[in-house]
Amino acid sequence: MSIVDKPSNRSGYDDANDVDRIMDIATANTNPDEIIHIVQDNADAIFTWNYDKGERAKLDKLYEKAKTSQWNATTDLDWSIEVDPYEALNLQAELQMDTTLTDDPTSPLYKWGDKEWREFGHQSVKWRLSQFMHGEQGALLCTAKIVETVPWIDAKYYAATQTIDEARHVEVFARYLDEKLNGGYPINPHLRLLLDDIINDSEWDMTYLGMQIMVEGLALAAFGFMHDLTEEPLLKKLLRYVMSDEARHVAFGVLSLQEVYQDMTLAEIQHRQEFAFEAALRMRDRFLQQEVWEYMGVDTRVMTERMLNAPEESKVFQRMLFSKIVPNCRKLGLLDAGEGWLREKFTEIGVIEFEHMPDTGAEFIDYDLTEQDFEGKSIQKHQAAATVALGDS
Ligand SMILES: [Fe+2]
Ligand SMILES: [Fe+2]
Repeated sequence: MSIVDKPSNRSGYDDANDVDRIMDIATANTNPDEIIHIVQDNADAIFTWNYDKGERAKLDKLYEKAKTSQWNATTDLDWSIEVDPYEALNLQAELQMDTTLTDDPTSPLYKWGDKEWREFGHQSVKWRLSQFMHGEQGALLCTAKIVETVPWIDAKYYAATQTIDEARHVEVFARYLDEKLNGGYPINPHLRLLLDDIINDSEWDMTYLGMQIMVEGLALAAFGFMHDLTEEPLLKKLLRYVMSDEARHVAFGVLSLQEVYQDMTLAEIQHRQEFAFEAALRMRDRFLQQEVWEYMGVDTRVMTERMLNAPEESKVFQRMLFSKIVPNCRKLGLLDAGEGWLREKFTEIGVIEFEHMPDTGAEFIDYDLTEQDFEGKSIQKHQAAATVALGDS
């Protein structure tokens, strides 16, 4: 048993549900007219003179796979499809799953009728796809950074392919929002802080942990749910294509970090645990979708408090977003190092039950563009996560 102290809570994270902290972030430094956002990147750019391709066979295989899995957002998607912006993705059932928001007479949403729910569903889709677009730009910058900072040639090669993948992802979400949903939302403040922290960090493996494991792990789960829910053919195909890339990206993170973490000291691993938890909280907080409540004229603070304090069983969707992150953290040894600090924290925020779901080290095979049963496999994964979230496993 280790005698090293547990890591300290950074940034006031002693109480994960501290509403003041969440509201401070939501309202600070928000400039809706900002076009350029500058972040200090503190990492070293690293050359390697070892050009032996294939020294890391699994990364080399991913690189070869990526080169033959490229698609063209302009020609492979049918942008002539007409989309009803209110019917692109029906989130009403998911949003109404929390009965403490819909059935409680003290809830600001108690008196909402079809008109309000329809508008909220529409705004929520716009907001959600906007945040994915901003997150994709984060991924674009992070993978360009990994090309510079990782010391292995196989990883530099692979990250270069991921950089073009992410450019394509930004392109498709931006075009879909602009042409089909009448525009989008600015970046969410919790997401922006998270992306800033990832870019800002000087250690190259932290880019991987923040982006490949946490941000992309959540995105892969969320894209899967949206893909299964939507019947709008353009969005469905767009998500299917993006998922085929994202599954490789998460695998890249898992395969690379496994090697690095094996050689780290406990203190170094503890720092990674803190970083992973901070990222998890920022992502949970972004899904409070405070900007959408504000748009709908509902008190944001009241909704934040209500959503954070809702019983776990009514937060099924929010928890399912962590269905890929938790098993990947487990595979990397992050859950139980340092006397299980991250396990405790994931238990506190109600997501630890996903730890035994399949990790994402090889999931890209199921999501490959040549996979005939993509639909079936995607729905199977969705149902497996729901079963765990509902405690029926
Ligand atoms: Fe992406
Ligand atoms: Fe990605």
